[in-house]
This record gives sequence, C-alpha cells and structure tokens, in this order.
Amino acid sequence: MASAWVLAAAAVLALWAAAATAAEGARSPAARVHRHLKRLNKPAVKSIESPDGDIIDCVHISHQPAFDHPLLKNHTLQMRPAYHPEGLYDDDKRSVASDNAGEKPMLQLWHQKGRCPEGTVPIRRTKKDDLLRASSLRRYGRKRHTAANPLSIDPNMLNEGGHQHAIAYVEGDKYYGAKATINVWEPKIQQPNEFSLSQLWILGGSFGEDLNSIEAGWQVSPDLYGDNNTRLFTYWTSDAYQATGCYNVLCSGFIQINSEIAMGASIFPISNIASSQYDISILIWKDPKEGNWWMQFGREYVLGYWPSFLFSYLADSASMVEWGGEVVNSEPDGTHTSTQMGSGRFPEEGFGKASYFKNIQVVDSSNQLKAPKGVGTYTEQSNCYDVQNGNNGDWGTYFYYGGPGKNSNCP
Ligand SMILES: *[C@@H]1O[C@H](CO)[C@@H](O)[C@H](O)[C@H]1NC(C)=O
Ligand SMILES: *[C@@H]1O[C@H](CO)[C@@H](O)[C@H](O)[C@H]1NC(C)=O
Repeated sequence: MASAWVLAAAAVLALWAAAATAAEGARSPAARVHRHLKRLNKPAVKSIESPDGDIIDCVHISHQPAFDHPLLKNHTLQMRPAYHPEGLYDDDKRSVASDNAGEKPMLQLWHQKGRCPEGTVPIRRTKKDDLLRASSLRRYGRKRHTAANPLSIDPNMLNEGGHQHAIAYVEGDKYYGAKATINVWEPKIQQPNEFSLSQLWILGGSFGEDLNSIEAGWQVSPDLYGDNNTRLFTYWTSDAYQATGCYNVLCSGFIQINSEIAMGASIFPISNIASSQYDISILIWKDPKEGNWWMQFGREYVLGYWPSFLFSYLADSASMVEWGGEVVNSEPDGTHTSTQMGSGRFPEEGFGKASYFKNIQVVDSSNQLKAPKGVGTYTEQSNCYDVQNGNNGDWGTYFYYGGPGKNSNCP
C-alpha cells in the first residue's frame, strides 16, 4: 500500500515537473518568438529570395493566414468581385493618350528572382529579427495607439502624438470606395522608429474608440521591415488601432487571391529628382453584392478583399476618405525630425521634384467612380510638410504634397 502510494506520488510529481518545464519553455522569450513565427509563416509551396533580402513564400491560397480567423473557418473564397466600379478605365484611357512617354509598368523587386505558381499567394516571410525589432510581440505589425488620424488631433495636442500629415480629404457623404495614382519615392528616415508613408484612408465611425479604417499605399518603415525600402502596404482596424487589425497580412483578415503582388514587398523602380517618374494605382471599393471591400493594384491586379464582417461602420459605407502623406516626428535631439514626406520636396516644386497624387476619385452609392466634391486639405505645420491641390484635364483632381521636415522654417 505504502509503496504504491509513494510510486503514485512520484509519478504525479514527475508529471507535474514535466508540465512545469513545458510551461516554462512556452513562456521563455525564444519559445514565444518561435511560436509567433510559426503562426505567421505558413508552409510554402515555393520560396523566392528577393534581392532586398526578403523571402517571399508562395503559400497555397487556402492556407493563407486569413483562414486562422474563427469567422472564416467555413468561408467560401471569392475568386473575383461581383462588380467593379463603373468608369474604372476612363481615366486610364486618358492617361495612355496623354501621359509622359517615359512611364513604365511598375513591378516588385522580388519579381527579378521568380514568380509564384497559380493557386498560391505570395507572402513576405516574417523573420526572427522582424519580431525582435518590435516593441512587443503583441504589437508587431500593428500601429501604435496614438492619434493616428490627422483630423482627430486636438489642436492643443499638436506634435504630442508625433504624427504629421499633409493630406486631401472629403467627408459628409456616403463613400463606397476610393482610387488614386500615387507617385513613388524613397523618403529618408531619420530614426528607425519613425516612418514615412503615402496612402489613402477609407474611414467610418468616430475618431474615438470605434474608428473603422482601411488603408493602402507605400511606406518606408525601418522598424517594421528592417530597411529603408519603399514597400506596398495595407492596414485595417475596426477599433481605432486598439485590438483589431494590422499591416498587410500580419493578422487574419485580408483574404488574398492574387499570385503576383505581395503585401509589404519592395516596390521597384522608384522615382528620382528630375528623372523618370513612377507611380502606382490603388483602388479600394465595396462590392455592392457581397459587401466585401476589394483592393486592386494597377490596371489588372485584383489583390483580394476584406470581408465585410470585420467592420462595424464600414460594413455599410465610409463617411470620409483621405489621401496623402504621414510621418512620425519623434523629435530626436529635441528638434523637428528630418524624416522626409513624399520626395522630401515641397509641393510648389512641382512635377519631377515634388510627390503627387493624381486622378483621386471616390465611389458613390450607385457604384460609380467620380471626382470627389468639396476636397479639403490639412497639414499641421505647412513649414515642415505641405499640400497643394488642383484640377486639370489629364490629372483630374490631384495634389502635390510633402516636404523635408526639419529646415530653417521648421526648427
Ligand atoms: C462551420 O460548419 C460546420 C459544419 O457545417 C459547423 O458545425 C460550424 O459551426 C461552422 N462554423 C462556423 C464558424 O460557422
Ligand atoms: C536607413 O537610412 C538611415 C539614414 O537615413 C541610415 O542611417 C540607416 O543605416 C539605413 N538603414 C538601413 C538598414 O539601410
């Protein structure tokens, strides 16, 4: 009896010790990083090493991270939108007829080393170093919860959140999408924890706790990517950047269907001062039949969609659209950052020097792409970064934006 009890007790103790060791292992930072990488990086059919050091994993379309979402377990993949907005190619026809002859099609850098097979989606692999640069594993791929939206900033708090903008916007109607052609540059970033981006925002709700946002454009973000390359990105949130949403496909939400364009991958080529200019076109719209928010890159790449159920306000429509630049000013050395926005030049320098958005459009309730009405502009400190809008036949509604940050008028 006694010895049986001792044996049983010893067995229990051994089990407990083993469980405790396992729990300890799971809690160690290295094990947590490993687990996080395993969750983010899905098994690849093929992997391509990009010249910038990225690994692009070609992941089977039904194994992508989106399907980790509990509400997507039984989701039927939509391989195409039911509808595109009306009038989509009107401005393209005009552009082809009149744009500068030097314009070349835009590619991603990793295309130099191969392509993903049909039936897969290209996903930028997250590396251990990417996670180690993040302030915490939980925050990796998410925005800091600060006043990330320009028009939410209380004038008394200027610079407190450290985000600076130069944007054009419309509000006061129901919007079902937006489009823009965005000039692509590689702005200099002063501190690795700062970033510079150029994007469009599709917004619903209030700027308090319940802001819904879908965002897409290009960004330079050393902390997120480990280099100074200009990268295609998306972002979404349904609670003002708190618990939901992320960049690219770093959380489950966006469902990718395209095998050619990777979120977070380096854009190539990039514009240079007084030399060839390159731009990307981004269209985001709500499919009037299924309700999903779709994204198209360029003339032909339908990248995928955000299911409507991810959102509250945007499950119906957007109440505001913004286009433009944003940088983080962390005030290194107690002065304004010299992180550049756009090309780093002010709007008045014009084509070939200043960065532009052209043919900005919104989608209305009848699924029609049209010029936005009543466009406003906003910047916190026009001596640091500025915006100037206009209208003409070739460029439709356009604006130049950006600046150098720190300079004699922006100390
Ligand atoms: C998925 O489908 C199965 C079988 O029809 C069902 O039992 C389950 O509840 C569904 N899950 C969700 C999240 O809808
Ligand atoms: C990024 O650019 C900054 C200067 O703008 C430079 O100090 C830094 O070394 C660059 N980082 C990489 C990874 O190239």
